[in-house]
Amino acid sequence: MKEAAARAVHLKDYAPYPYLLDDVSLQVRLDPKATRVVSQIRFSPNPDGPAAGTLRLDGEGLRLIRATIDGAPADVTVDDHGLTCPAPATAFDWECEVEIAPADNTALEGLYMSNGMYCTQCEAEGFRKITYYPDRPDVMAPFSVRIEADPATCPVLLSNGNPTVAGDGWAEWQDPWPKPAYLFALVAGDLVRHADSFRTLSGREVDLGIWVRPGDEGKCAYAMDALKRSMAWDEAEYGREYDLNTFNIVAVDDFNMGAMENKGLNIFNSKYVLASPETATDRDYEMIEGIIAHEYFHNWTGNRITCRDWFQLCLKEGLTVFRDQQFSGDQRSHAVKRIDDVLTLRARQFREDNGPLSHPVRPESYIEINNFYTATVYEKGAEVIGMLRRLVGEEGYRAALDLYFDRHDGQACTIEDWLRVFEDATGRDLTQFKRWYTQSGTPRLSVREDYTDNVYRLHFRQETPPTPGQPEKGPQVIPVALGLLAPDGSETMPTRVLEITETEQSFTFPGQETRPIPSLLRGFSAPVILTRQSTAEERAFLLAHDTDPFNKWEAGRTLAKDVLSRMVTDDAAPGPDYLSALRRVTQDDTLDPAFRALALALPSDDDMAQTLTDSGVTPDPLAIWTAREKLSLRIAEELSAVLGDLYDALERPGPYSPDPKAANARALRQTALGLLSRIDGGTRAQKQFAAADNMTDELGALACLIRADGGDEATATFYRRWADDRLVLDKWFALQVGYAAPADAADVAARLTQHPAFDWKNPNRFRSVIGGLGGNHAGFHAAGGAGYELVADWLIRLDPVNPQTAARMTTLFETWHRYDADRRDMMRAALERIRATRGLSRDSAEMVGRILG
Ligand code: ARG
Ligand code: ZN
Repeated sequence: MKEAAARAVHLKDYAPYPYLLDDVSLQVRLDPKATRVVSQIRFSPNPDGPAAGTLRLDGEGLRLIRATIDGAPADVTVDDHGLTCPAPATAFDWECEVEIAPADNTALEGLYMSNGMYCTQCEAEGFRKITYYPDRPDVMAPFSVRIEADPATCPVLLSNGNPTVAGDGWAEWQDPWPKPAYLFALVAGDLVRHADSFRTLSGREVDLGIWVRPGDEGKCAYAMDALKRSMAWDEAEYGREYDLNTFNIVAVDDFNMGAMENKGLNIFNSKYVLASPETATDRDYEMIEGIIAHEYFHNWTGNRITCRDWFQLCLKEGLTVFRDQQFSGDQRSHAVKRIDDVLTLRARQFREDNGPLSHPVRPESYIEINNFYTATVYEKGAEVIGMLRRLVGEEGYRAALDLYFDRHDGQACTIEDWLRVFEDATGRDLTQFKRWYTQSGTPRLSVREDYTDNVYRLHFRQETPPTPGQPEKGPQVIPVALGLLAPDGSETMPTRVLEITETEQSFTFPGQETRPIPSLLRGFSAPVILTRQSTAEERAFLLAHDTDPFNKWEAGRTLAKDVLSRMVTDDAAPGPDYLSALRRVTQDDTLDPAFRALALALPSDDDMAQTLTDSGVTPDPLAIWTAREKLSLRIAEELSAVLGDLYDALERPGPYSPDPKAANARALRQTALGLLSRIDGGTRAQKQFAAADNMTDELGALACLIRADGGDEATATFYRRWADDRLVLDKWFALQVGYAAPADAADVAARLTQHPAFDWKNPNRFRSVIGGLGGNHAGFHAAGGAGYELVADWLIRLDPVNPQTAARMTTLFETWHRYDADRRDMMRAALERIRATRGLSRDSAEMVGRILG
């Protein structure tokens, strides 16, 4: 029924809203089953819009109590998606009252309840579940909000902007900055505040608050510190100052995504706020820092300048991801951050781009916009900005951004506006560059070379394979950062950027006394798949000598992939080049320990499956897993002495601290432990597990024990210790599924879904187990299809409760086309079963339809 009604929205159909909203005032009387929302809106005709005279407001699941225009009853017609009524073509006052039931809202979109606390999630189209409204980002208005609630259960009442007046059981807030409804937020509950303050560049004193449930107040310090660093960084690097007297963050346990940048009132999944050494890992701290920064940075890139329509989502997300990546690089290590970001890009975005869900950074149509909060919009969107910055240079970038903030503050913009500021600020024509926003698919860049009479030449060829709806592509602008090395390891040409714009293009480098070794695509200067014939020897050379840290790592990664591929296809043993190069890197104390940890890590099974597919081999998940296990064992044996020394030497002297230096040392120590556990009978892991005083060490040891033999005892101990901590328990669930042997993984997951603590309506918990199984490549794809069945069963169950999270997780099946006929059939059958579910949400219906193609 719902599917039949679902219609696609198209970018080309954009039209402005016929009215402007001068002012919005909301009065919300909270009640779990019968919340009343009164809205008063001053409308006036939009001089740049189509003719006024009919009022169309979005609304879903609302019980309309009354509606008036200028005080007289409005003649409204209500349908499933909103209401329509005749309205003056001049300014008028709209008032309406609706009733909603937040306690029944399990979709976690709109106004809902989490552990007795009221909260909201309005992006992208959740505000229409709170009241009738033109719920589109180009409609912006100043809001004032009055909240009323039972003071016994909800002593704290928060909304956007600045607090104005409050009393027992009520509070008023005013947000002077016009904003779209998706940035509206409201929170009410029994919360405690971790308070601090920040003085902005121009001397504004800002009250900062992180609001959490009583008992969690000791876990806010790191997030607060990250917030203050973010605020200072945005002033220093982008000249952006905060613009209200108050900035609040609330941690919520039930949340579909990571966090949300509501104006002055960010709402976070509690896993990205709460941290203590005992309960959070180094990785958690890093994520908290990055996401706190991301949401804060949205205040300018997203809130002050927002999107005209949801097709422009990358305007705020790509840019804000780019900014948070810059920030994290500045706080920690640029080299390690870049490698991490590229790992994520390849694992998520390349995967997406290689399959049926491939879409442009700026899509042209959608059925459910929540399905487009993707790795392509976010991560590829950030890569595109990185390329722009490389092409126009640091100063050009800064000039363009200054112009962007200057010209577009307070507006709802498009990618055209964004590119125009770069053109105007730098004089560069970006017509061809725009293809990065409109063409989907990952460009393949191949390169050949020749060398005669001291002249070295590189011949490039680019091609982007067909993707859904885009059979043919034009050549894109590909910035290739290149350095040349001499055989003695010295750099004969420091990094310069080649701009490839043609399908085939050659570059000449005269005056090369000896044949140079190229270091191509330094820093991963473009999100492409680069292929070049090369020898293991040359890769080992680059791993040893490349002065570009990314390419140094990349050389090792390519070597590892070659070794693994040959182990899978020919049962070949790992060659000496790889192992001796790995030994040199591991022992090189001049290298950042975190870099060495990354160099020692093998490509994931999913990455190998894609790599094999790209070279024309149908991936066998068990064979990949077996090869990776074998290679890990081989590395452990080969490097046992070095790793043992490192493990001992990297033991921390003092108490745990989440600072980058300590975290980097722990990363290498944990990598060493992971390898050593394969040959020491688990003695080190046992000892570390028993002695751990922090979650990084404790969880790292537990992972080794589970992988070795299931780790039953340690798993039970861990559970007893942490049964009361939701976030830690999520890790406990995820680890058991993630590290289960291929043949057991589906059983382990099925057993865990029977556990009393498996609260499947909580998205974090659901993702731990069901997402965890999907992330265990060999386990999910184990012969027989039990993994596919279990995931499909649970997605079908979750869909009516929480369509957004269910739809997002259908992507576990997006790679079905890679595998053998048996697996393809089973995966397709699982997808068909989901598709045939009666009343399937629009969210999941769109996803499954696209995945099946
Ligand atoms: N704007 C948020 C962020 O990236 C993401 C919220 C998306 N939520 C959703 N339901 N689609 O920071
Ligand atoms: Zn964002």
